[in-house]
Amino acid sequence: MAVRKIVVLGSTGSIGTQTLDIIERLGQERASVVGLVAWRDSELLKEQARRWGLPSERVVSVEREGSEAMTRLAVLDEADTVVMAVAGAAGLAATLAACKAGKRVCIATKEVLVAAGELVTQAAKDGGAALLPIDSEHSALFQCLAGYDYSLIDKLHITASGGPFRTWEKERIASATVDEALNHPTWRMGGKITIDSATLMNKGLEIIEACWLYGVGEDKVEVVVHPQSIIHSFVELRDGALLAQLGLPDMRLPIQIALLHPEKVDTGIPRLSPTQMRDLTFEAPDHERFPAITLARQAFRTGGTAPAILNAANEAAVGAFLEGKLRFGQLATAVEGALGSIPVTDADTLEKITLADASARRFVREHF
Ligand SMILES: NC(=O)c1ccc[n+]([C@@H]2O[C@H](COP(=O)([O-])OP(=O)(O)OC[C@H]3O[C@@H](n4cnc5c(N)ncnc54)[C@H](OP(=O)(O)O)[C@@H]3O)[C@@H](O)[C@H]2O)c1
Repeated sequence: MAVRKIVVLGSTGSIGTQTLDIIERLGQERASVVGLVAWRDSELLKEQARRWGLPSERVVSVEREGSEAMTRLAVLDEADTVVMAVAGAAGLAATLAACKAGKRVCIATKEVLVAAGELVTQAAKDGGAALLPIDSEHSALFQCLAGYDYSLIDKLHITASGGPFRTWEKERIASATVDEALNHPTWRMGGKITIDSATLMNKGLEIIEACWLYGVGEDKVEVVVHPQSIIHSFVELRDGALLAQLGLPDMRLPIQIALLHPEKVDTGIPRLSPTQMRDLTFEAPDHERFPAITLARQAFRTGGTAPAILNAANEAAVGAFLEGKLRFGQLATAVEGALGSIPVTDADTLEKITLADASARRFVREHF
C-alpha cells in the first residue's frame, strides 16, 4: 500500500478532526499529513501543526491568509489526497483546483457539489481526479454500487434520521430554539449541518449531491426517514435488487473508505454487531412540516445557478438563525424567497456561481 500524503481542508472541524484520528490510526507507513487548513489560527490548528511537524507554509488560517492560500495547499505537489471538509461553499475554488490537479479528492463538503456539481465533476474528469464521497449516505451508495455500471440504478434511497423535530407539530417547529435545533438525536456534527438536519435541508442537499456523483436525475433519488441511523442508504437496481450498507453512526468509517478505497484496513473503530440491531424503522418524510426537500428538488430541476442560490441562501439563513436573527420557521421561507427573486443563469463558470452565491446571501441579509 502506498503512503497517502494528505492535505486536510477544514482540519479543526468535526470531519477534519475525525480524519486526523483515522490518519493517526493508519500509522505513518500508510498515511501522513502534509498540509492543514482551517478558518481561524486557533490553538487546535497550532496543536495539529505541531503534532504533524508541519512548517508554517503548510498550515493555513484562511481568516488571516485568504482563500487563495487554501487553494495553494489543495494543489500541493507533495500531496496525492485532499480531504475537503470546510463547512459550506467557501471551499469551491480549492475543490476545483484539487480536481484539476488530479488529486484523490475526498469530499465531505456537499455544498460544493450542490453549488457547482457540473463544474466539479467536469474538473475531476479533465484532471483525472478521483472524487470520493465522505457523506455517510453517499459512501453507502458508493459501496453498494461497487462493480455496477451506474446506468443500472433504478432508485437511490437516502436515509435520514429525521432530526430532532421528527415528531413535532408544525407550529412548535416554527419557533424551535437554537439549542433545540442543535440537539441532533444520532450524529455529533458541526453547527451548520446540524441545523440542516433539523430542517431536512441536509437531505435536499444530499439529493443534489447524489445526482452529480451517480449521474441520475432527482426523480431517481428518494428519501426515507430511518431514525436509528444504522442503514446509511439503499441502492435499488434495475432488476429490483435492494442493496444496503449498515454501520454505527460514526463518520470515521466513511472517511477511511474515501482515503483508502479500494484498500481495507482494520483501524479498530467500533463495529456494528447484527445483534445490536433491533427495531429498524422507516417512514416517508413529511414535506408539509419540512419543505426543504421540495425546494432542493425544484432548484435542481431548474438547473443553472438555482442550486447555488438555494445553497447560499440556506447558508446565510442558517448563519442568521445561529446568531438569533431569524426564527427556525423562516429558514425555508428565506431560501424560497431567494429562489423566487434572483435570476438564474448558466452555471458554467466559477464567476457565474460566485455571483449567484453573493446575490443570494445579500437577499437573505436584506430581507431577514
Ligand atoms: N460532521 C459530520 O458528521 C458531517 C457528515 C457529513 C458531511 N459533512 C459535511 O462536511 C463539511 C464540514 O462539516 P463539519 O461538521 O466538519 O463542520 P465544522 O465542524 O463546522 O468544521 C468546519 C471546518 O471548516 C473550517 N472553515 C469554516 N469556514 C471556512 C472558510 N471560509 N475557509 C476555510 N475553512 C473554513 C473550520 O475552521 P475553524 O474551526 O477555524 O472555524 C473547520 O475546520 C460540511 O460541508 C458538512 O455538510 C459533515
